Amino acid sequence: MFKKKVIALLLGAALVASMITGCGGAAGTSSDSGKSTGGKKVGVSMPTKDLQRWNQDGDNMKKEFEAAGYEVDLQYASNDVQTQLSQVENMISSGCNVLVIAAIEGSSLGEALDMAKEKGVPVIAYDRLLMDSDAVSYYATFDNYMVGTVQGTYVKDTLDLDNAEGPFNIEFTAGDPGDNNAGFFFNGAYDVLKPYIESGKLNVVSGQKTFEEVATPAWATETAQSRAENILSSNYADGKNVDVWLCSNDSTALGVETALANNYNGTYPIITGQDCDIENTKNMIAGKQSMSVFKDTRTLASQVVKMVGQILNNETVDVNDTTTYNNNKITVPSYLCEPVFADANNYKEILIDSGYYTEDDLK
Ligand code: BGC
Repeated sequence: MFKKKVIALLLGAALVASMITGCGGAAGTSSDSGKSTGGKKVGVSMPTKDLQRWNQDGDNMKKEFEAAGYEVDLQYASNDVQTQLSQVENMISSGCNVLVIAAIEGSSLGEALDMAKEKGVPVIAYDRLLMDSDAVSYYATFDNYMVGTVQGTYVKDTLDLDNAEGPFNIEFTAGDPGDNNAGFFFNGAYDVLKPYIESGKLNVVSGQKTFEEVATPAWATETAQSRAENILSSNYADGKNVDVWLCSNDSTALGVETALANNYNGTYPIITGQDCDIENTKNMIAGKQSMSVFKDTRTLASQVVKMVGQILNNETVDVNDTTTYNNNKITVPSYLCEPVFADANNYKEILIDSGYYTEDDLK
């Protein structure tokens, strides 16, 4: 059985390894891919500025692409599918040589992707897979299933599910059904916890345990909050404790945390998250969120800059997974970076010492 510290160590080691090997190393990456990039233009399409991480993703990519000699057209689509579609179409008609796209909805950019294919513009799906299209050249992301596994394993170890008597009460809050990642996160966590749910050691009091039942459209904090409020008033108003709230990411965890603050007086649950957003990291320090899975946007940006350089220079493109990500049309060659476990004990090392945040950011 894995212990929490062992996981932290393993994931920490994986981070270091990934920095040394394929998935990172900004300086080396930039100069490698800068070989013959003169005059090349990259279109970077991000879903929204509302969530902290996409701002960081966009900023990091722009910085790295420019340092490598590219021109960059960076656009945010305000979580509006039509806006993203026309932004991507504009990128193609304005002469971008390659596109990097984090889709709002994986399957809604078909027309733009067809246009890219027609014009011979390679497309990298960024963080979220682009669905239902054979025009996707590569996918760069963090290992989404592993994100869920890290969350589930954290719950398993913290409650010591193999030895503790239980039973414990648990609720789930997952992500956007339009985002292919959301199912991977949920399944990764659920697969770890399933044996304990089946044996009755974990009790899903609301009864809501399928992805469809626990999903949160658009990953919206307010939606997660109101669903959590309903669950609390229907199932926990009699004084029952909720021991775990498995949240797939930080924006949904924030909603659950607000719901608990307003509607719950029992023992505070274990709450998981993902992204290490500033608000959530503050909550981890304050004991209102137990952990978050850290996906260093600098690491992914570096990987993508490297892959773009390889594509444009007709070199072999760095991938490490050619089987997992089928988008209903093709299996997209992928590079999966490794996510890292973060909590109140290691956040200084992972987030501050690495320069991701300053102490002041977290005050
Ligand atoms: C990303 C997560 C993020 C979520 C909401 C997912 O596709 O992988 O990091 O929390 O979208 O934006």
